[in-house]
Amino acid sequence: MTGGEFEGNCIQPKRFSTRVSQKHNVRRHLYIGCDLKRVQTIDELRAAAERRLPAFAWQYIESGSEDELTLERNRRVFRNISFVPSTLVDTSGLDSSVELFGARLPAPLVVAPTGFNGLAFPGGDSALARAAQRARIPFTLSSFANESIEEIGTIPGAQNWFQLYILEDPSITTRLVERARQANFKALVVTTDANVSSAREWQRRCYRSPGKLSHPHLFDALCHIRWVREYVRRMVSHGEPVFANLAEFFPRRQISAAKAASLITSQLKPRITWDDVRKIRQLWDGPLLVKGVMTEADTIRARNTGVDGVVLSNHGGRQLDCAVSPIEVLPAIRNRLPDFPILVDSGFRRGSDVLKALALGANAVMVGRATLYGLAAAGEGGAAHAINILMSEIHRVMGLLGCLDLACVARHINCPAATHSAGGGDFHCSR
Ligand SMILES: Cc1cc2nc3c(=O)[nH]c(=O)nc-3n(C[C@H](O)[C@H](O)[C@H](O)COP(=O)(O)O)c2cc1C
Repeated sequence: MTGGEFEGNCIQPKRFSTRVSQKHNVRRHLYIGCDLKRVQTIDELRAAAERRLPAFAWQYIESGSEDELTLERNRRVFRNISFVPSTLVDTSGLDSSVELFGARLPAPLVVAPTGFNGLAFPGGDSALARAAQRARIPFTLSSFANESIEEIGTIPGAQNWFQLYILEDPSITTRLVERARQANFKALVVTTDANVSSAREWQRRCYRSPGKLSHPHLFDALCHIRWVREYVRRMVSHGEPVFANLAEFFPRRQISAAKAASLITSQLKPRITWDDVRKIRQLWDGPLLVKGVMTEADTIRARNTGVDGVVLSNHGGRQLDCAVSPIEVLPAIRNRLPDFPILVDSGFRRGSDVLKALALGANAVMVGRATLYGLAAAGEGGAAHAINILMSEIHRVMGLLGCLDLACVARHINCPAATHSAGGGDFHCSR
């Protein structure tokens, strides 16, 4: 793949559609061609990803749990937050950088942990890590990654974070933390909202039994020739994708793609508590974050447990359906803890979304699907393009607001008179 082209399953006839509807003389549609330089938005990367991936792989990335109400809410909440710009401000020296755990980032972005990135693109973890490194933002490697801590740790100049699931066997936790330290990972993110495995029903419908695709989905996968070719090529050179970080603890058969679901179900620990976090605090002396916090009480608890920051998250709508969106609970939590590092994720697809979160009190934003769409559309180049899109949108919106730095953005947020209700209280936009 060269020159900004990516290998989607392009539907050529629609590419330069000249069809004009009866009612309108101009039709609007997303760009669906293969020239990455013409892809302007995360939504266009999403469309390209959907075309390249077989339906079962697409459902793995896209599905939310149960009725997908939270998945949908995560996008809808941003529509109710708006900006009030200043005009005639010289923004030529605009600076979108932020200080996070001792590192200066060019934009308040962190790539969120996502398991099984090899399904989106062969070598997906290192592709995302390299894209993040090129943009000088952190990449978070999942416990359920297809590439190991050690492989990702060798990427020069990368600011890698490691995401830890607390698994049934405590010796696994101790060992993973030790490996992350040895590989020079900068921060540890403990995910706490997956104590129980969720029901992503659209994803499940692709299978007739665990690990076995239904016949229509098998046929659909085989029809995605490019995806199959790349997947098989990777299998020939690297073997079947496995949960690389768990390889030393389980027989290879158990950590394979096909057995993934049953392994995850058997290892996620329903009795995880703050005591587990306290023990991890003793093992790790770098920045420690808890991901999956949604209340003031839990944020205070996190701080009192010695944690250095939280990620307000509903796991991108993949765990508890009907949960509120992090952006709705953020202002109240920020009011209560003015100086505590708070990251936020779930539903971020635009630079303006990121700036809204910052205006409401976040220190930075984690992006999950946004970079995964880029990865699934075009590998490392696509992931890098996703980050570039978000960064240039952040710059553009700051310029249009008349903001020279991120602190200024909070002065330009408009609160639509508490239109949503978050967890019984009103959603206040002011900090
Ligand atoms: C395909 C996929 C896999 C994920 N795997 C993990 C994981 O292994 N660990 C984790 O903490 N979060 C995981 N997440 C959740 C993300 O870290 C993040 O919270 C979520 O994607 C944010 O929402 P967004 O996708 O709308 O940006 C995953 C999300 C997706 C979409």
